[in-house]
Amino acid sequence: MIVNTKEMLTAAQQGNYAVAAFNVYNQETVQAAVRAAESQSMPVMIALGERYFPTVDVEGFAAMVKAIGAKSSVPVALHLDHAYEKESIERAIASGFSSVMYDGSKYSFEQNVEQTKEIVSIAHIAGVSVEAEIGSLARGSFSDEEEGSGTMTNPADAKQFVAETGVDFLAAAIGTVHGMYSGEPNINLQLLEQIRAAIDIPLVLHGGSGTPDAIIVETIKRGICKINVNTEISLAAVSFLKDHVAAYPSTHLSSVMAELENAIVPAMSRFVSLFANRA
Ligand code: 13P
Repeated sequence: MIVNTKEMLTAAQQGNYAVAAFNVYNQETVQAAVRAAESQSMPVMIALGERYFPTVDVEGFAAMVKAIGAKSSVPVALHLDHAYEKESIERAIASGFSSVMYDGSKYSFEQNVEQTKEIVSIAHIAGVSVEAEIGSLARGSFSDEEEGSGTMTNPADAKQFVAETGVDFLAAAIGTVHGMYSGEPNINLQLLEQIRAAIDIPLVLHGGSGTPDAIIVETIKRGICKINVNTEISLAAVSFLKDHVAAYPSTHLSSVMAELENAIVPAMSRFVSLFANRA
């Protein structure tokens, strides 16, 4: 079933687990994400980035996710990831997305507040919840995201930002990167505790790929209740494709796509299971 993202993340916050938000690009990746969530009896977020709007028909994509979600045995939310343009957000809202992320992290604090406030007012009228980001993630290897400054989130800024904008969830920059790490990850758990103490809305961790499992668990214990994953699934898919096509050079595209979906379900299930924080 398709559910309201705010309710999904509030339940995660109360239950001390995190929902996986998988970046997806087509029907196979959506189906794999839902199958992974069903295998663990966990909710899941289907996240389409604004950067894929040129290649993915947004209205058709939303209809497809709603149809898949309606048949699913677990709660499914449809989320717009990293949107920089108001037009993209309005398009996602009109298509029935459950939540949107407005990324004003490259602007000054004041500009980010002003722009996020406007997005919140537009989204809330439609019953759509809003994620925003202060601070900014750096980009590691193999990431498809924009380069960020790597500035950590300041807890006092987080408090003021949430109070002034009315956002529903906040992405906190605590040292994770988009993509794979080039050295040892340097994640500031103490900073996360300070951010958690300053605000009470659900906290989001971007840059799930490559982050050691033990650190992921510690972030969930300290209030992270949505974790974004993109690069590691893409790497698993591309690696599968290379091997599969090399092994079966005269294969048909229809079976390549079906096998691709099967191949990424275990990688996604591993994240869903880790984020369930059941140990
Ligand atoms: P990774 O590519 O590191 O998994 O990060 C994804 C992400 O945060 C998308 O918003």
